[in-house]
Amino acid sequence: MSAANDIRDQTCLSGNAVQKLNFITDSDRYIFRKYYRSGLRSHIFEILTAEDVLKETQGWDMDGIRMFPRARPKKMFRILRNKFKSKEEIFREIKKYHILLKFLGPKFIAESDEFIVDYTGTGTTQIVLCGLQEYIEGEMLDPWRLFGEDYLRDLFKFNMHEDSQIQRLVRKIQKNIAKFVKRTRHMITDTGYIPDLAGVGNLILTPDGSLKLVDINNIVKINFSDTILIDDKGYPSCDVSVEVLSILGRDILHKDICMDDPLYRVFLSPERRIKIKALEKEFYKNL
Ligand SMILES: Nc1ncnc2c1ncn2[C@@H]1O[C@H](COP(=O)(O)OP(=O)(O)OP(=O)(O)O)[C@@H](O)[C@H]1O
Ligand SMILES: [Mg+2]
Repeated sequence: MSAANDIRDQTCLSGNAVQKLNFITDSDRYIFRKYYRSGLRSHIFEILTAEDVLKETQGWDMDGIRMFPRARPKKMFRILRNKFKSKEEIFREIKKYHILLKFLGPKFIAESDEFIVDYTGTGTTQIVLCGLQEYIEGEMLDPWRLFGEDYLRDLFKFNMHEDSQIQRLVRKIQKNIAKFVKRTRHMITDTGYIPDLAGVGNLILTPDGSLKLVDINNIVKINFSDTILIDDKGYPSCDVSVEVLSILGRDILHKDICMDDPLYRVFLSPERRIKIKALEKEFYKNL
């Protein structure tokens, strides 16, 4: 097989193709299904039991009614597209994930078992980073579309009947968001790293009021100087992630953003914001 067929370069990879990869042990019990959402950095698959998929597609009788329950992933499987040059480079990547886990804790991220495989599909042996990650069900917390005064309430009101129940949930989410912001800021000060909070779908709110960061593979250096750092895809994710922290505080927790705060003073300065907007425009133009 030629290098052109490298799975890391393919725009789309089917679940069936994954099942045939040299580092996957094919089994009748599990099915890989391409996840309906995706990003730029990884191929993402649901790992489902064959039994659940059968129920979903063929249906099963419950009290005389034919039901087609959605198969819920047991795990999410990621194949990183990144072509690492050495094992050390991959270890550094995995280390960053462990920093994230240490600071945010399993409560605020979708935990993942990160591992390296020998991929032989191109004819030579390549090292590829993969992850088996906990599946998070819920609503995307999209910082760029926080419409209305009661955004959180509107997000969940269709699933609940009682007002007091919704209020309790909203308060719980707000508490969790406040803790998330605090822990992320702690990580920034102690390590000089910030996770990517900017991508659509990176943050998920679960029905029980938890907030989870699911995109755990883009953790970048934060630089307080005038130089604006861009990530491996050319996106100013550090600056935009700081902006997301401020949006969570201002628009969801209804707290004033203090421009004396060193983090916001540097990253949200009007001159810097103009440069960031131009970089973002460039990024979207090149997509
Ligand atoms: N563990 C998970 N549980 C539920 N949804 C997930 C999970 N991991 C990823 N997703 C969803 O899949 C989509 C892509 O995920 P993610 O942002 O991590 O992609 P990526 O390709 O690794 O990174 P990037 O967005 O930086 O290109 C997102 O919409 C995210 O909500
Ligand atoms: Mg993402």
